[in-house]
Amino acid sequence: MKLIIMGPPGSGKGTVSERLEKEYGWLHVSPGELLREEVVKGTRIGKEIKSYIESGKLVPDRFVVEMVKLEVKGKDNYILDGFPRSLDQAKSIEELKIDIVIYLDVSEEEVIKRFAGRRVCEQGTHGYHVQYLPPKKEGICDVDGSKLVQRKDDTPKVIKQRFKIFHEQTETVRKFYDKKKMAVKIDASKEPEKVYDLVKKVVKEMKKQG
Ligand code: AP5
Repeated sequence: MKLIIMGPPGSGKGTVSERLEKEYGWLHVSPGELLREEVVKGTRIGKEIKSYIESGKLVPDRFVVEMVKLEVKGKDNYILDGFPRSLDQAKSIEELKIDIVIYLDVSEEEVIKRFAGRRVCEQGTHGYHVQYLPPKKEGICDVDGSKLVQRKDDTPKVIKQRFKIFHEQTETVRKFYDKKKMAVKIDASKEPEKVYDLVKKVVKEMKKQG
């Protein structure tokens, strides 16, 4: 299954993708995570893209598109989390023959509440929420045992910029997939368990159709 998970910043894309990865063993490709890793490692690419991520702007396609294509090369089962985010990106992956696009629908007011409590492990791979999705041990990642921290782009100013980009560029991607009848909208304002159940329902339906 080749799946795209879309939605506004903080809608739960990473949370849903992590669960699908765990349950179905599909590869979870999150450009946001891969790009942040480059920044943390201080690679040449990391140095070039740091300012885009930290200011909430889209990283230029020359860094993102090939990176995603390389990740999924030769694979049949994967989740693209937060990719594509622009029409150009969507057109650049037409050859991948994506099966379905799941759109996590939630209001801006609701996701803003989520950001304040979001925590991630030091590597930025595993996500939590102090209230809605707490780790077993306070402040510690259940999976890798590292300290939980706040993301650098989770400040009110940068969150505002990420929403602006979402409205200006990413909503057109949704319309693009709507026209192709590939997009399914999920009510992502519910609790994490319920949102995941709705996603699974869509996935099971797709699997049945073969
Ligand atoms: P990215 O990391 O993808 O950020 P984003 O799209 O803004 O989304 P988030 O990761 O903030 O949120 P999410 O939807 O994954 O929600 P989460 O599950 O964490 O991208 C970061 C940056 O990288 C971009 O700004 C850009 O610079 C660059 N980039 C990435 N992709 C790019 C691309 N394609 N092209 C160019 N540049 C790109 O949940 C949020 C919080 O809510 C968590 O605390 C979680 O525990 C909690 N939560 C989750 N679900 C629920 C629920 N149902 N109820 C209550 N709480 C919940």
